[in-house]
Amino acid sequence: MTALSKNRIADFLKSEPSDALVSISGWVRSKRGNKDVAFIALSDGSTIKTIQVVADLTSFNEELIRQITTGSAIEAKGKLVSSQGAGQSIELVANEIIILGEADAEKYPLQKKKHSLEFLREIAHLRPRTNTFGAVLRVRHAMSFAIHKYFNDRHFYNIHAPIITGSDAEGAGEMFKVTTLNVGNPPRNEAGDVDYEKDFFGKEANLTVSGQLESELAALALSRVYTFGPTFRAENSNTTRHLAEFWMIEPEIAFFDLNDNMDLAEDFLKYLINYALEHCADDLEFLEKRQQEEESQMKKEERSSLPLIEKLKSVIEGTFERITYTEAISILERSGKKFEYEVKWGVDLQSEHERYLVEKHFKKPVILSNYPKDIKAFYMKQDKDGKTVRAMDVLFPGIGEIIGGSQREEVYEKLSQRIDEMGIHRESLWWYLETRQFGTVPHSGFGLGFERLILFVTGMGNIRDVIPFPRTPKNLEF
Ligand code: 4AD
Ligand code: MG
Repeated sequence: MTALSKNRIADFLKSEPSDALVSISGWVRSKRGNKDVAFIALSDGSTIKTIQVVADLTSFNEELIRQITTGSAIEAKGKLVSSQGAGQSIELVANEIIILGEADAEKYPLQKKKHSLEFLREIAHLRPRTNTFGAVLRVRHAMSFAIHKYFNDRHFYNIHAPIITGSDAEGAGEMFKVTTLNVGNPPRNEAGDVDYEKDFFGKEANLTVSGQLESELAALALSRVYTFGPTFRAENSNTTRHLAEFWMIEPEIAFFDLNDNMDLAEDFLKYLINYALEHCADDLEFLEKRQQEEESQMKKEERSSLPLIEKLKSVIEGTFERITYTEAISILERSGKKFEYEVKWGVDLQSEHERYLVEKHFKKPVILSNYPKDIKAFYMKQDKDGKTVRAMDVLFPGIGEIIGGSQREEVYEKLSQRIDEMGIHRESLWWYLETRQFGTVPHSGFGLGFERLILFVTGMGNIRDVIPFPRTPKNLEF
């Protein structure tokens, strides 16, 4: 037997009682019992469930049993028997236990009691051992796998976009610099500015905010492509929806217009949510209970309107509402609601506006399209009215914007003019512009924020709790 073919606790819990000797390794979640017997709940992260290890104390060294504390790692050998206790069908009657690693009970911070998510963020090195983070990480994995599967099954090619770039894909200037210059005393040019010609790349370099521009280059050759990689934004937003480092999925498709793009976005999201329901049932059940417990402390209007699993099903079963930005503004104006931020044609929608549309007005996901060009990126296809662009944002209940995308401007003159109008450094984009001179075609794409998807699917409330090691302003531990 190779190490890989060894059963996991998830496998043992599904197997039948047997006289065969098995060995189970994991971390102790809790130990209880009396002077005759100890019951140890063991987890190896393969499932939200623990397996019960039963140790008859007459055959074990007392000191050994004393050393088995919450958080310690053990290997237990014995036979699988049907369990008398409630909540599990199989348990291990141990005849040998080896302690692999002790966990000092005085110091181990994850004793069996409820810990706040804030506290768990301070011990992000240990939080994967909690039920909540185990569930989140398993769901996160399943979603990552499902994304690749969705695209592979539909003949999209995965493109690895670079992480270090010399351009600003969103034209928003919220980038982290990458340099090997001595920041305390950088070389200067004659004008007294930092001389980036002496820097590693011979020019200014940044961490990418999006793989889109490179994704477009590939789509204009392979027709259907997608990227799935980390992206970085130096925006100082301390919200429950923003990370400085997050993962984005960016499909880009040649010969696709804005409507095709919306169809793809809707189908993709429904597929992913359905995949979670089919493959993560135990974890979602746990997360649903967790959310209900957490929300029982909240005011009624702050609670989710549906339990997690029902909410996920409702998204799959319904169709997304599709309206234009202009229609959205008029709904908001007619709502009679006092918003903190002003509503008038031309303003960027704030999360209070998005949430009103999704949670109060339509009560389902909404795809907003054709935004004013001045609040969107330079690369979006301009509408004939000269005022709007073929942008689309998908808004989700409890989340707000989960996807942002557009049909791209494929006409060289229009794109070129927009780059100049917006004061964008065209030299750094010559290659992008050139694709509009050689075999340009209509094409579209979008970006799905991976962590926002995970927030929605897990029902967690803070984006810091759906990525293993979050990067946010003033937070770079672990
Ligand atoms: O709307 P955004 O900025 O769009 C783009 O970057 C395009 N280049 C995508 C494309 O058309 N290929 O970002 C896309 C999505 C958002 O809808 C949101 O879900 C997520 O990325 N996102 C963030 N997620 C976490 N933290 C942040 N700071 C985020 N900024 C955007
Ligand atoms: Mg956006």
